[in-house]
Amino acid sequence: MQNATLHQLKVFEAVARHNSFTRAAEELFLTQPTVSMQVKQLSKTVGMPLFEQVGKRLYLTEAGRELFTTCQDVFDRLSKFEIAIANIKGLKQGKLRLAVITTAKYVIPRILGAFCQRYPGIDISLTVTNHQYVLDGLASNENDLYIVSQPPEDMDVEIHPFMENPLVVLAPRNHPLVGQKQISLERIAEEPFIMREPGSGTRKAVQKLFDAHGLPLKVRLDLGSNEAIKQAIAGGMGISVLSKHTLALEGLTNQLTILDVEEFPIERYWYVVYPSGKQLSVIAKEFFQYLLSEGKAVAEATALQKLL
Ligand code: PGA
Repeated sequence: MQNATLHQLKVFEAVARHNSFTRAAEELFLTQPTVSMQVKQLSKTVGMPLFEQVGKRLYLTEAGRELFTTCQDVFDRLSKFEIAIANIKGLKQGKLRLAVITTAKYVIPRILGAFCQRYPGIDISLTVTNHQYVLDGLASNENDLYIVSQPPEDMDVEIHPFMENPLVVLAPRNHPLVGQKQISLERIAEEPFIMREPGSGTRKAVQKLFDAHGLPLKVRLDLGSNEAIKQAIAGGMGISVLSKHTLALEGLTNQLTILDVEEFPIERYWYVVYPSGKQLSVIAKEFFQYLLSEGKAVAEATALQKLL
């Protein structure tokens, strides 16, 4: 067994526990051929088959049952070891990996700032990207915690709402619609529109609203950045819909304003999400609690909240 790897044992344990290659592959975010290959190599190392297929059912062989019990012992010992190490280190050091959608970048760094003052020894990795890429990272278990506006429906995840994330219609200050009340969606659909890129959650929400009313938008340009869109609005290229948080730092400048449009703001939330069953590190757990208990208060102290 010296040649067996811990990874192979993990894969085998998941297949044995679920009695299924498919379910094990899902749990471990692996493909089914990878799972089969790992189990095959492990059987070779053991020198005996570990599973047998009778009809459609999968059974552990006697060698498989022995190995399953051994794996449970090994993993139990390892998780006790991890807890012991975490306790020794406490929250003094370690790494926190976060992936957040672009609108959350206006708030999360401030919350991280306050959190890091409390735990100065920890390293942070913060990935800021659009909705689709955050979900891809979640599916491949790349980070500890994820912040999204639309939690995935096809993945087994823990979801906790964390803060409002309203979408508003932004226009240049000198736009003819400024000052009008309850502008209709039909009227908005006549304006040249600047849209976020495909894969963006903002784009999805905007499209959903206008599609529901059967109103095609006159998209003049797609841009992959909230900041670039703000510049394009100020430059007179059109109007757009963005999260109110994108105005966090500068507030409403003398160049941009929020239009009063029916059905707006689109009320949305940010959610903290992580795969169900994921063993969060001590630091990730602490940050998660911090986010839910104090994150909002930290964000409220920012310029943005005076706007909301
Ligand atoms: P996006 O997500 O960066 O993918 O547009 C933002 C949001 O959904 O708030």
